[in-house]
Amino acid sequence: MAIITPTVRPLQPPPGSSINFGAQVDGLDLENLTDDQFAAVRNALYQHHVVVFKNQSKLSPKAQYELTKRFDPAADNYGHGKTLDAKRSILHPDLKTIPHQPQVQVIGNGFVPSYEGLENIQLKHPHHRTFHKDHIPDDKDYDFTRFYRWHIDAALYDLYPPMVTTLLAVEVPKGRRQTLLYDDGSDETLDVPLGTTAFVSGENMFDLLSEEDKEFVKTSKVEYAPHPYIWMSQAHSLSTGLGLHSEGLELPESDLPPIDEKKIMKFPMVWKNPVTGKLALQIHPSAVRKIHCADGVVIDDLATVREIVYKMQRPAISPQHVYAHDWEEGDLVLFNNRGVIHSVVGAFKPDEVRLFRQCNLAASEAPIGA
Ligand SMILES: [Fe+2]
Repeated sequence: MAIITPTVRPLQPPPGSSINFGAQVDGLDLENLTDDQFAAVRNALYQHHVVVFKNQSKLSPKAQYELTKRFDPAADNYGHGKTLDAKRSILHPDLKTIPHQPQVQVIGNGFVPSYEGLENIQLKHPHHRTFHKDHIPDDKDYDFTRFYRWHIDAALYDLYPPMVTTLLAVEVPKGRRQTLLYDDGSDETLDVPLGTTAFVSGENMFDLLSEEDKEFVKTSKVEYAPHPYIWMSQAHSLSTGLGLHSEGLELPESDLPPIDEKKIMKFPMVWKNPVTGKLALQIHPSAVRKIHCADGVVIDDLATVREIVYKMQRPAISPQHVYAHDWEEGDLVLFNNRGVIHSVVGAFKPDEVRLFRQCNLAASEAPIGA
């Protein structure tokens, strides 16, 4: 029997871009991956962080789940676990699960009459208007957009951040592009396809730091708020989607579900790549609550915590560092959830139908630091 080895081709950055991650992988049947082929895919993921497979429209939800699980066979949970059930969580309205493969969620925009056992579903692409403190005027909404929310896919309470997320584009509206505005006093903009997913490399984010900051992030930890997506549900995002304004709108602990101190997550600021050993600055900027420094000092003033994190993350989301994937139907994208942060982008009209399948599983182990 012929042995099929995949081809791995690094993505070509567009003019002016300095991205050094992303690859397209061809030549594999993802429904029937051998162990050697999977090892090559895993290697590609940790070398390139965002891995694109073309023409995967026929991939079954089961195969998507099994591929996701293969990165962490001991993982046996949903990416966000039960936190999704909380009605007040800001993640709740955006996700629907496939009845016969409940670890796989359907996300997107518009009305879908029938898909994989789901009937008459109404999807809504997140719009920055619902999350940012201010928004692009309605009459410019067709042409301009923002990063909605930079994040790691993770519950950040009780559960460890998933190793990988798999995203399949089932239906993609054609043609339109938008100009993404940073609106933060810089004049930075980015030309993006409608509904792109934006990625930046946590390794690049680390590499851009000063030597002093590198030392700081290698020896410090971040603590996340308990039930972070409920805690932040009344707060407003910065215009860059990279964290929140500090206006005292976070819910007090007395208004949160019961808190088990043991379930509060505290992680290193940098996470080590299990294949290359490189370090990535990996912080969820909206959910962060405290910083624990090497000398035992705990920075718990929320505005200060956010300022420190923002200053370190902001350089790496400048346009030349962003990979904005131009989705085509059948694209399956795997991303290293412990080596990139990503954001939803785009403003859809109600009749622009976008249908995606997403899967990630809470990991069996915590991230490893420097
Ligand atoms: Fe995500």
